[in-house]
Amino acid sequence: MRAFTNVKDLGDLNAALKEAAEVKKNRFGYQQLGINKTLLMVFFNASLRTRLSTQKAAMNLGMNTMVLDVNQGAWRLETERGVIMDGDKSEHILEAIPVMGSYCDIIGVRSFAKFESKADDYSENILQQFIQYSGRPVFSMEGATTHPLQAFADLITIEEYKTKTRPKVVMTWAPHPKSLPQAVPNSFADFMNEANVDFVITHPEGYELDPQFVRGATIEYNQEKAFQHADFIYAKNWSAFADGHYGEILSKDRSWTVDTAKMALTDNARFMHCLPVRRNMIVTDDVIESPQSIVIPEAANREISCEVVLKRMLESL
Ligand code: CP
Repeated sequence: MRAFTNVKDLGDLNAALKEAAEVKKNRFGYQQLGINKTLLMVFFNASLRTRLSTQKAAMNLGMNTMVLDVNQGAWRLETERGVIMDGDKSEHILEAIPVMGSYCDIIGVRSFAKFESKADDYSENILQQFIQYSGRPVFSMEGATTHPLQAFADLITIEEYKTKTRPKVVMTWAPHPKSLPQAVPNSFADFMNEANVDFVITHPEGYELDPQFVRGATIEYNQEKAFQHADFIYAKNWSAFADGHYGEILSKDRSWTVDTAKMALTDNARFMHCLPVRRNMIVTDDVIESPQSIVIPEAANREISCEVVLKRMLESL
């Protein structure tokens, strides 16, 4: 595997899930792959889970790890070609990327949407430059438009907790005080559309996601109707994708918050969220603390999804 940015990079999804189960049973069993190999993690944005789970996955595989926080202690990077660099940016990413590549074997990159332009964000300019110019396998630790390590961990978690062959999985928009990217819901849809699940997306009108990720998913604007017979509720906020409203908050309607009354409409569904979560905006205390909440094992599976990706990249070196 030379790049990991979306579900297709995993190939056969059932084989990837089987491999994840094997890795989880024997997470230190592949250490010979990573001996004398170095992972560089490049963060343009903050992280808790991704930073720790990726480092842990690399250590499980016997790798050395280095972390660069681009906005803390590194030169400020220019990311566009053709810019006259007479401002506060001291280094161009086109030199910085191959230099970084010369010190490591695999690179993970986190670079969120900037919301300055939909075209720029959806071009994944920074991640794609790492893929093109580093000379190393590159994986997304959340780009501007996708978060595949999260969605793979989400699918692993659904596999572990499902009680029927084809569960109903509902991704629901929920309110948030800040404008959030579409990366997590895009990737969740990308993975669910390839998995053996009945996938429904519910959100207020105006929050339609990019059709390339939604594909054949059912859209239901009535949240309570969507929750009926659900086996998994996946809550997430995202900002608007539509032209003219890209990145905008169109609603903070707290009637969309996931609460006990709504969970009672489901078939005793499990509650999921990628974290970090704003309590009593996205989900009430009662729901996230309930026995049906699986947000902690979901986060723990980030180590496993990443270990599968790193293992495959190490095998391809
Ligand atoms: N879910 C997730 O990616 O968490 P962090 O932003 O803390 O890494």
